[in-house]
Amino acid sequence: MALQKTLDAILVVGPSGMVGKVLCQALISRKSEFKRIAFFNDTSRPETEEKRQLFATFRNGGMEQVSGLYTDTEAFTGFDCVLMPLGNHAIKFQPTIIDTGIKAGVRHFYPSEWGADLTAGSNRTQRYYRDKVLTREHLEKRGRDEDTPDLGWTYIQLGRLAEWSIIKHFGIDNANHTADIYGTPEGRQSLLSTADAIAYTIETLRHPFSVADNGHRRPYRFHGASPTWKEIFDELEAITGHRYSVTYHDVESAVEKEARAKAVGDVDLELEASHQLIQGRGGTLLPEPFNNNLFPNIHPESVHSIFEKIFRDENMRKFLGY
Ligand SMILES: NC(=O)c1ccc[n+]([C@@H]2O[C@H](COP(=O)([O-])OP(=O)(O)OC[C@H]3O[C@@H](n4cnc5c(N)ncnc54)[C@H](OP(=O)(O)O)[C@@H]3O)[C@@H](O)[C@H]2O)c1
Repeated sequence: MALQKTLDAILVVGPSGMVGKVLCQALISRKSEFKRIAFFNDTSRPETEEKRQLFATFRNGGMEQVSGLYTDTEAFTGFDCVLMPLGNHAIKFQPTIIDTGIKAGVRHFYPSEWGADLTAGSNRTQRYYRDKVLTREHLEKRGRDEDTPDLGWTYIQLGRLAEWSIIKHFGIDNANHTADIYGTPEGRQSLLSTADAIAYTIETLRHPFSVADNGHRRPYRFHGASPTWKEIFDELEAITGHRYSVTYHDVESAVEKEARAKAVGDVDLELEASHQLIQGRGGTLLPEPFNNNLFPNIHPESVHSIFEKIFRDENMRKFLGY
C-alpha cells in the first residue's frame, strides 16, 4: 500500500480575515493534533489595534507568528501546508505565495476557495473567479514540473457561506427589509455555515492521502443545504418578523452592470455584478457527489439555525446591516 501522509505543520496566510480568524481559532482548539501551527503576518499590510489584539490572542492560544512578505522564502520554511483564506483584493498574490512556498519546501496548498465549484457551469469564465482560476492553473502547472511531482492541493468547495448569502453585496437590505435579486424565487444556492466549512477543512488536514495514486490533489465538496430564494426569504421573515419586499431582476441584465463597473474601474462593483450573474445562473449550487460522508461526525447546521444565530449576534447583525 502506498505511503499515507497527513498535513502536520500548518501556516495560515490571511489570518485576519473573516474566514482566516475562524480557521486559526479552530486550529488552536485542535493544536495537539499538529506538530506546528502558525499564522503569517504580512508586514506590507497596515497595522491596526484590532489586528494586534487578534494576533496576540492567536499567540496566546499557541500559534506561532511568522512575519514577512510573500516573497520571503525563510518565512515559509518548515511548513508542509499553507492555507490561504485571502480576501478578494489579495487572491491575485497566490501564485507568488505558492512559488515562494515551493522554494521553501512546502508541498501542499489550500488556495482561497471556500466557495463554488469552479468547474460547474460557466463559473470558470466569470470575472469574480478570475484570480481563483488563475491560482488553480498555476498550481496545476507547477504540479507538472519535473521537480515537484509531489506538489498537492486541496480545494474546499461548498457553494456559498451561509452568513454571506443575506448581505447587501447579494442584494439584501435587512435594515429596510427589501431585496433586489438577480434570478427567480425558485433559484437555488448551496449554503454551509462558516463554522462547518472550517470544521470540514480541519478534518481534511487530518485526512491521510498518498502521493502515489494522485491522492494529494483533492477537490472536496461539502454540502449544507440548497434552499431557493423563496425559502430563504421565508426564513428571514420568520426570524425578523418583517415581510421582505423582493424584486427579481433578469439575470442577464447584470452583464451590462458588470461592463459599466469595469469601464469606470470600480472593481468591487464589478465583482458584485459578477457574483449576481454567477448566482442567478445557478453557479453557487454545489453539484453532487458530496464528500460529507467522509466525516460523519460533522452534522451541518440548518439554514434556519444559522440565520437565527447571526441575527442574535451583535457583531453579525452589523455585518448583516440590520
Ligand atoms: N462562498 C462564500 O460565500 C464566501 C464568503 C466569504 C468568503 N469566501 C472566501 O473565503 C476566502 C476568504 O475571504 P474573507 O471574506 O475571509 O476575506 P477578507 O476578510 O476580506 O480578507 C482576508 C485576508 O486577506 C487580507 N487582505 C485583504 N486585502 C488585501 C490586500 N490588498 N493585500 C494583501 N492582503 C489583503 C486581509 O489582511 P488585512 O487584515 O491586512 O486586510 C485578511 O487577512 C476567499 O476565498 C473568499 O472568496 C467565500
